[in-house]
Amino acid sequence: MYTVPKLEDYSPEALDRAVADLRRALAEEEASISSQADWKAFRDRWLARKNGILTQLNNLWLKPCPADLKRTIGQIINTLRPEIEHFVTHGQSRDEDIRTVIDSLSKDALAADRLDITLPGIQRPIGVKHPVLRVMDEIVAVFKAMGYSVGEGPEVETDYYNFESLNFPPDHPARDTQDTLFIAGQESKPARDRLLLRTHTSPVQIRTMEQQPPPVRIVIPGKVHRNDPLDATHSPVFHQVEGLAVDTNITFCDLKGTLDHAMKALFGSSVKTRFYPSFFPFTEPSADMQVSCIFCGGKGCRKCKFSGWIELLGCGMVDPNVFDFVKHNGYDSSKISGFAFGMGVERIAILKYEVEEIQLFYEGDVRFLEQFA
Ligand code: PHE
Repeated sequence: MYTVPKLEDYSPEALDRAVADLRRALAEEEASISSQADWKAFRDRWLARKNGILTQLNNLWLKPCPADLKRTIGQIINTLRPEIEHFVTHGQSRDEDIRTVIDSLSKDALAADRLDITLPGIQRPIGVKHPVLRVMDEIVAVFKAMGYSVGEGPEVETDYYNFESLNFPPDHPARDTQDTLFIAGQESKPARDRLLLRTHTSPVQIRTMEQQPPPVRIVIPGKVHRNDPLDATHSPVFHQVEGLAVDTNITFCDLKGTLDHAMKALFGSSVKTRFYPSFFPFTEPSADMQVSCIFCGGKGCRKCKFSGWIELLGCGMVDPNVFDFVKHNGYDSSKISGFAFGMGVERIAILKYEVEEIQLFYEGDVRFLEQFA
């Protein structure tokens, strides 16, 4: 450890040596600082007022020296003082550097230090379209190719659009076929303005005809809600694609041809369709369309309950009573006619992908969803 020597030889060489010894000691001691405590000790050793090295230089070099050398020795000490101060300041930052390194090493940087750039890296899987949306888009695309445009409407609907204008008179029993979820606290409003979650996409038929005069060719994909308990094939929230074509001379034959083509586009050209009488308040006549079983080709299997046919959608010719609600916009039922249909997207997806439970579509289980990637 360096100690300040007494000066006996005042020759320039001896003075240079003494200064060089001090500088070397200063640099070495500063370089060995590795903690806050080290730095404090270093600072006090060199700068302490009472017996620090700088003070000792005054006491041991300057005070006892011959009068004619006071000036020279004074100058030497004056150059050494800022050097010592500099090393003390610098020593502190060295200590901080070391501390940051130690801190970070003990934390996450340890992990970063282990970074192996030859590893393949984290793969972030790219999402895919949900199977329900995919089928919905597929259905829409089939109709787009036939010249249909795409429309939308609100999921929270008024009683008027969901029921009344579709020829479900108030209190008509046909309303019971669609167990409806009503928005609470609407009692003060007139019945037709009360809000509900739309039970089908059919309200957009009227909304479209209010917006544009005939001719109309439109498909309306969307989410619908019914107060149905969840089972293997039913969900209180599901999706439909509605279709509406209105023009002069539209016949049931057009309806059959259009849907037959659409089913062949969706399920393959060997699929057959047939139409069974049914009832919907807004179509007359109404039909349920069935497709030949896509699993057995019509021979009969468990999936089609050995009938060879699977019921797929509701359709019919637009009831003149519906046109009457939009008569003012060019829908005169003595001059125009139209057909409409509505299909459940999940139902079609279940058939296309042979999905056992409708819930699988909504659970968000990646093991299920990634099969559609
Ligand atoms: N909206 C009917 C339903 O949800 C389906 C349908 C649409 C029937 C258009 C005929 C015409 O059951």
